[in-house]
Amino acid sequence: MSSRMYKPTDHVIKKSYLPSIQKYKEMYERSLTESELFWTEVAQEFQWHVAPKPGGFMKYNFDITKGRVFVKFMEEAELNVCYNLLDRNVKNGFGDKIAFFWEGNSPDDYTRITYRKLLDLVCQFANGLLAKGIRKGDRVAVYMPMILEAVICMLACARIGAVHTVVFAGFSSDALAERLSDAKAKLLVTADGAWRGERMYVYKRTCDDAIEKARTFFKHRVDMCMVVNHLDRVTPGGSLKSEIKDLYNWNEETDIWWHEVLEGESNICPPEWVAAEDPLFVLYTSGSTGKPKGVVHTTAGYLMYAAATFRYVFDYHRRDVYWCTADVGWITGHTYVVYAPLANAATSVMFEGTPYFPKVDRYWSIINKYKVTQFYTAPTAIRALMAHYNVEDGNLTMPDLSSLRVLGSVGEPINPAAWLWYYTRIGKERCSIVDTFWQTETGGHVITGLPGATPMKPGAAEKKHPVYYSSMDTFRPKQGWDRTVMIVHLPNKSNRTRGFPFFGVEPKILNEDGVEIEGPGEGYLVFARPWPGMMRTLLEDQDRFERVYFSKFPGYYCTGDGVRRDEDGYLWITGRIDDMLNVSGHLMSTAEVEGVLASDPRVSEAAVVPKPHEVKGEALYCFVVLKEGLQFDADLVKTLTLLVRQKIGAFAAPDTIQNAPGLPKTRSGKIMRRILRKIAVGDHEVGDISTLADPGVVEELFNNRPAEA
Ligand code: WT7
Repeated sequence: MSSRMYKPTDHVIKKSYLPSIQKYKEMYERSLTESELFWTEVAQEFQWHVAPKPGGFMKYNFDITKGRVFVKFMEEAELNVCYNLLDRNVKNGFGDKIAFFWEGNSPDDYTRITYRKLLDLVCQFANGLLAKGIRKGDRVAVYMPMILEAVICMLACARIGAVHTVVFAGFSSDALAERLSDAKAKLLVTADGAWRGERMYVYKRTCDDAIEKARTFFKHRVDMCMVVNHLDRVTPGGSLKSEIKDLYNWNEETDIWWHEVLEGESNICPPEWVAAEDPLFVLYTSGSTGKPKGVVHTTAGYLMYAAATFRYVFDYHRRDVYWCTADVGWITGHTYVVYAPLANAATSVMFEGTPYFPKVDRYWSIINKYKVTQFYTAPTAIRALMAHYNVEDGNLTMPDLSSLRVLGSVGEPINPAAWLWYYTRIGKERCSIVDTFWQTETGGHVITGLPGATPMKPGAAEKKHPVYYSSMDTFRPKQGWDRTVMIVHLPNKSNRTRGFPFFGVEPKILNEDGVEIEGPGEGYLVFARPWPGMMRTLLEDQDRFERVYFSKFPGYYCTGDGVRRDEDGYLWITGRIDDMLNVSGHLMSTAEVEGVLASDPRVSEAAVVPKPHEVKGEALYCFVVLKEGLQFDADLVKTLTLLVRQKIGAFAAPDTIQNAPGLPKTRSGKIMRRILRKIAVGDHEVGDISTLADPGVVEELFNNRPAEA
């Protein structure tokens, strides 16, 4: 069934910019052979202070044996991203067009903002930043819920040439402190707090702790903290101000309310014209050594690429209403909540809450409320929600979703069961699904489907090693719902993204020796040339940038993902081939979590592997070796779990922590993670273990598996 091909329907094709695969191929060819002309056409839609000059649009070196790696796009041009997203659209007659429908956590709390109003507020806040001494090149950290002020703050930074670094508000104060210090942030912008579902989060308190930790542990001083008074919005139960003001500190010298920053500021603020290659933002992503990497994106290339991918991958048209559910704290939120939609004068939905509140139909009711045409979310959300719409459960009905045309998926592989459910139950078999593969580092989609052009296939269901799960209670956010039992079939080899390179992207498949695999085959996914939106360096760590992405295969950008090319030349992402884990679309490194576990004085060693999880895609399975004579008990498991939540964030909490008498290691001392993965799933077919220093440890580990694993 699932090897069937699904062609784009007329519903999609009749509107599409790229209504056939031939059209895509022509344009793709041109994007490689006449790349300058191709990007000039994109650039013409934008306003330049100094226009890009012909000749040498893209200068680069990908080969570390020939010198430093660099990428420069439209080097001599000057522009301002904020001007292009707001002033330009207002000038083009979109001033009264709605930029965002904002939907709060509570369904009764919603608002909207036009392009003109957004421009006013951004200018006012930009003037406020200037008044407080923030200048071009300064770094501004942002730790915020999904509120319009987050967008306003990012754009105000762009307007004055300051560099924002948004830290996902699910990160702990330790993680925030590390990022504040690494980025040398002068200012931190946050909100007092926000409600998500039935829980209130007090972000200001986390910021207080982080600022303190940055000072004591990293000797970095954050000069100022600006705070949006968001909790004062009327929520059911009335104003909360009096109850919450004791939950955080207020430092009269360094803290200032957002509304006070705006006070008396003019809504006119001339943009700071910056060079095409000046940094626009820094965004941290997990690195395999555990230390986060500050990915640097620059101005012109990022804007061109964000704009072009949005237009073609989502097939955005003027009257469409687009919704991306990602948080602004991740790259998906940067590119596809903020920059790309505004670059296209799009109307978007921005949602503060969770898919489960007040009921599990929230996503669908929002689509229905705003008549959303493009919906972009992560497989983990689809898997979590589909469980509630089991055929056996007659109580849950879908509202009318006929406005939809394009459904996007991002962040992790989408399994066939989730794909089919998305396609039939949400898309009603007439929408195109675009599975978009990309990374924080790539800036925008690099391997993707295109709604009108590319046929879809939900992944080949292979019967080898099926994994069955029967209980869904691990993700249940709220008590008291009917228990839904779902059987999910996750065939081993089906977790693949099927797609095509976006314009300007030249993927190759290399084997371990760096030899290119042409035709069908499987290997490392690399890119042979830069595209405008790719990262330029790691913040103040060019060496690491070259080591991580360019040293394995000189001449290529190495993604860290595996890929297979099938007989028809289509690419299938097969998942990470390094020590990274993908939990609910959040990328993290095994080393990062291992480091936290080993920081407990009782732990002598820790190893973390991914274990397939029916909702999260992957879950953390941790093996901990205790110091001589120490007792492993439930208390220890609790403390270690808490430690991970504290040091990284709740989303990184391990599912399983197992007592390990020892770890399977080669004689040279390398941990054999392959074997640990087998133990995690209880698969006794571990293969050859004769190279292990102590093969006996494998049996012991199987015997030690906790009952709930
Ligand atoms: C890693 C990058 C790109 C925005 C969110 C994640 C995995 C991403 C897909 C997809 C299969 C995917 C890759 C990649 N990934 N999208 N459509 N199919 N895998 O950004 O945190 O930088 O993570 O996510 O393994 O390398 P990120």
